Amino acid sequence: MDCLLCSPILYIFLIFLWYLVRILLNRNLSFPPGPRGYPIFGNLNLRNELSHRGLAKLAKQYGGLLHLQMGRIHIVAASTSEMAREILQVQDVVFANRPANVAISYLTYNRADMAFANYGPLWRQMRKICVMKLFSRKRAESWASVREEIDLMVQTLIEQSGSSVNVGELVFALTRNITYRAAFGSFARDNQDKFVKILQEFSKLFGAFDITEFLRWMKWFGNRGFNKRLENARESLDGFIDRIIDAHIDKKKSQKQDHDGLDDDMVDELMAFYSGENGERCNDSQSSSLRLTRDNIKALVMDVMFGGTETVASAIEWAMTELMKNPHELRKLQQELADVIGLNRQFHESDLENLPYFRCAMKETLRLHPPIPLLLHEAAADSVVSGYSIPRDSRVMINVYAIGRDGSVWSEPDEFRPGRFMLCKAPDFKGSDFEFLPFGSGRRSCPGMQLGLYAMELAVAHMLHSFDWKLPDGVSSGDLDMTDMFGLTAPRATRLIAVPSYRLKCPMAI
Ligand code: HEM
Repeated sequence: MDCLLCSPILYIFLIFLWYLVRILLNRNLSFPPGPRGYPIFGNLNLRNELSHRGLAKLAKQYGGLLHLQMGRIHIVAASTSEMAREILQVQDVVFANRPANVAISYLTYNRADMAFANYGPLWRQMRKICVMKLFSRKRAESWASVREEIDLMVQTLIEQSGSSVNVGELVFALTRNITYRAAFGSFARDNQDKFVKILQEFSKLFGAFDITEFLRWMKWFGNRGFNKRLENARESLDGFIDRIIDAHIDKKKSQKQDHDGLDDDMVDELMAFYSGENGERCNDSQSSSLRLTRDNIKALVMDVMFGGTETVASAIEWAMTELMKNPHELRKLQQELADVIGLNRQFHESDLENLPYFRCAMKETLRLHPPIPLLLHEAAADSVVSGYSIPRDSRVMINVYAIGRDGSVWSEPDEFRPGRFMLCKAPDFKGSDFEFLPFGSGRRSCPGMQLGLYAMELAVAHMLHSFDWKLPDGVSSGDLDMTDMFGLTAPRATRLIAVPSYRLKCPMAI
């Protein structure tokens, strides 16, 4: 008997039996159209197509709601505005969960954050803290860190005026500085490079393809190298953030009662909800019933880092790239800036409301290059969309990239035409126009939208108002590579290099 139980043949037989039962159970379900798969493996041969571009290509063949069977996991991709509305609005509650693989679960302290927490009370509490406290307009420090870091970037550009600048690296450094400073204030500033390395490793691990996710039995073959990398990555983060949290606890203990909170960073804000290891509170004045653990705080800080860094940087770099590729649009924007502000002073954020064409160009950038091109959701229950069955736990991807370039909705969909957003019925990005969803829609839509947009608009407006831009000698606008690199976000595959020259009549203030 013992021998039979240990026999691999028994396990293989049980796996086949399980697949057989699943096939029989699934026979009466009509999934959305999709390519035929192989037994057991399903469509795993198409795993390289699970990007916004790959899925857009498949949608052309199979339609706006596409089904792929990846081993044990059902994947459904929505590529039209009607399907997006059905998932994000009509059946929002059913699709408000996020999928998480082993790497994501482990690195987010078992989904102790907001971005990967399942829809429910914990997520709701954390979302409230983020929206009301961290990303709110009322939290002046977050917005001040955007302004101050952009001023520093403008100074760097002034110093490099007339020479080639790696715009991509510059704006990635800018947004890293903004989020780092908003999160940690002046703490551990010297260790920023170390933290960036931790973030890069996290990003690689989040995106790594793990076959055991789709074929659980592959775990038998072990994946010790990958597990070790996960452990090391989390240990590095613990080492880094635990020290920062401890320093914040000490700071709070030594603070006077009448502390005005003016220099508080995001960790300070989160510490107000911290219920320490022994249940002690950090801030007695907080009457709220919300409680955060150390793991919640660490995972939320990572959300801010991931949510706020690459998204904004990629949007700024794409805006500058499209303008370098379309010099007539660049001239139009600069003319508007000159007409509204003049060339005798620098741009100020209050000018934004008088720059309609500029703002349309930012929208057009987000339409063509949504920083998060695929929205990742998961079905919390069996459901039916457009007459097709979507089983519980299916991964549901909304292809914002494909929707933004849908030729049946947008004229000349692949062209950069900011003027299209000047029309009176043009869609907005607030989540109710499903043909344009750069910030998502519904319960899981972006809570950092205002802050992200503010950073994007401020950075690009300063760059265009204070400087003229040209491509380095020997490079023409037609040479610009417009391919992107797919990961958690979709930044440009190669960094943009361009030459700024100061164009204002007021003296350069270095
Ligand atoms: C141009 C800038 C940005 C864009 C285009 C953007 C876009 C998005 C999108 C598309 C989603 C997913 C929506 C969905 O699944 O339906 C999202 C979620 C999120 N974003 Fe942003 N984002 C930006 C900036 C920011 C900033 C600055 C922060 C924070 C500082 C942030 C934090 C988050 C978080 C935490 C989530 C997860 C929300 C949840 O699951 O409940 N984002 N963002």
